[in-house]
Amino acid sequence: HSPEVDRLYQAYEWSAKFYHYLLKNTEHGKAAMEYLRSRKFSDQMIDQFQIGFAPDRWDTLLQFLERREFDLAEMEKGGLLSSRSEGKGYIDRFRGRIIFPIANRAGKVVAFAGRILGEGQPKYLNSPDSKLFNKSRILYNLHQSKSSIRKTRQIVLFEGYGDVISAWDSDVHNGVATMGTSLTENHVSMMKALADEIVICYDGDRAGQAAAMKAIPMLEGVGLRVKVAVLPSGLDPDEFVTRYGGERFREQIVESAVSTVKFKLIYLKKNHILLEEDGKIAYVKEALQIIASLHSSTEREVYLKEIASELELSYDSLKQDCNLLRASMQ
Ligand code: UTP
Ligand code: MN
Ligand code: MN
Ligand code: MN
Ligand code: MN
Repeated sequence: HSPEVDRLYQAYEWSAKFYHYLLKNTEHGKAAMEYLRSRKFSDQMIDQFQIGFAPDRWDTLLQFLERREFDLAEMEKGGLLSSRSEGKGYIDRFRGRIIFPIANRAGKVVAFAGRILGEGQPKYLNSPDSKLFNKSRILYNLHQSKSSIRKTRQIVLFEGYGDVISAWDSDVHNGVATMGTSLTENHVSMMKALADEIVICYDGDRAGQAAAMKAIPMLEGVGLRVKVAVLPSGLDPDEFVTRYGGERFREQIVESAVSTVKFKLIYLKKNHILLEEDGKIAYVKEALQIIASLHSSTEREVYLKEIASELELSYDSLKQDCNLLRASMQ
C-alpha cells in the first residue's frame, strides 16, 4: 500500500475503537445505548460488531484525529470528516449517529455506516467510496462469516446491517449484506467463489421482494443454487427475530426457504386478484410461463398440481396448456 492508504486504515481502526468506547463508556453514548437496548441489541452483539456512537457535535472525531496528527484533508477524502460549507476547515462527517463499522475481507475497517437515532433522513449515512472502500465490491460481515460459509458452502444474503447482526445472534453465522446498493455483478462473483448456495433473505415489504426477483437471475446466471426465505409482509429479518425469537427465525424462515420457482409464484400471486376470473386467468398464464421453462417434468408436475388444487382447476388442462407453451418455446 501507499503510505496514504496505510494512514487511512489506521484512522478507521482507531476511530472505530473510539466510537465504540464513546457508546459504551460515556454520557454521550447513553441515549444511543438505550436506543440499541430498545432494539434488543445485546452487549455481546455490540462488541462483536464493534458498534459505536458518534456524538451530535462538530468536532469530536476532528479533535481525536488532530491529536494523533492525521492530515485532515486526507481524512476528509477518506470519508471521516467533511469540509465546512463556509470558510476553511473540517467537521465530523458522522454526528448523532450509531456507527456500524464496515470491514473488508481481511477484517480491516474501511468505512462506516451511521444510523440516525429514531426517525429522520437519511436513515443511514455511509462513508463515500475511497481508496479503501468501494461499496459495490464489499459484503458486510464477510470477514466474520467466511469460515462458516466455507464449511456450509452456503451464504444467507440480507439487505441490512441489523438483519445480519440479529441473524448472527440466532446462530446464523453465514450471513452477509450488500451496502444499500442493489446486488452487483461483483458481489455475485465474490459469492460464487465461496459458496454453492445462496439463501436470499430480504425484507418482507414490496421493495425487498422486488429486489429478490431481480437478484434471482443474477445468482442463477452464474450457476449458484438459490433459495428464497419468505418473511411475513411488513417484517424484515431483524424485526422477525425481535418479535418471534432466533429459533423460530432459523427454523421457520432460513431453513424453510423456498425454491425460486415457488417464490416467483408467490410473488406473482400477490399481483393478481384471484377471486376474479380475469385475475385468475392472468395469474395462470404468467405462472405457466415460469413452469413451462422448467427442464424437469417432475418439477413441472409438482407446481402444476399445486396450482390446480389451489385454484380448483383440472391438472389435465393446466398440463395441456403447459405443453403447448413448451412446444412454442422450442
Ligand atoms: P432498510 O430501510 O430496510 O433499513 O434498508 P434497515 O436495515 O431495516 O434499518 P433499521 O432496521 O431501520 O435500522 C436496508 C439497507 O439499505 C441501506 C442500509 O444498508 C440498510 O441496512 N440503506 C438504507 C442505506 O444505505 N441508506 C438509507 O438511508 C437506508
Ligand atoms: Mn439476543
Ligand atoms: Mn427495506
Ligand atoms: Mn429492513
Ligand atoms: Mn430493520
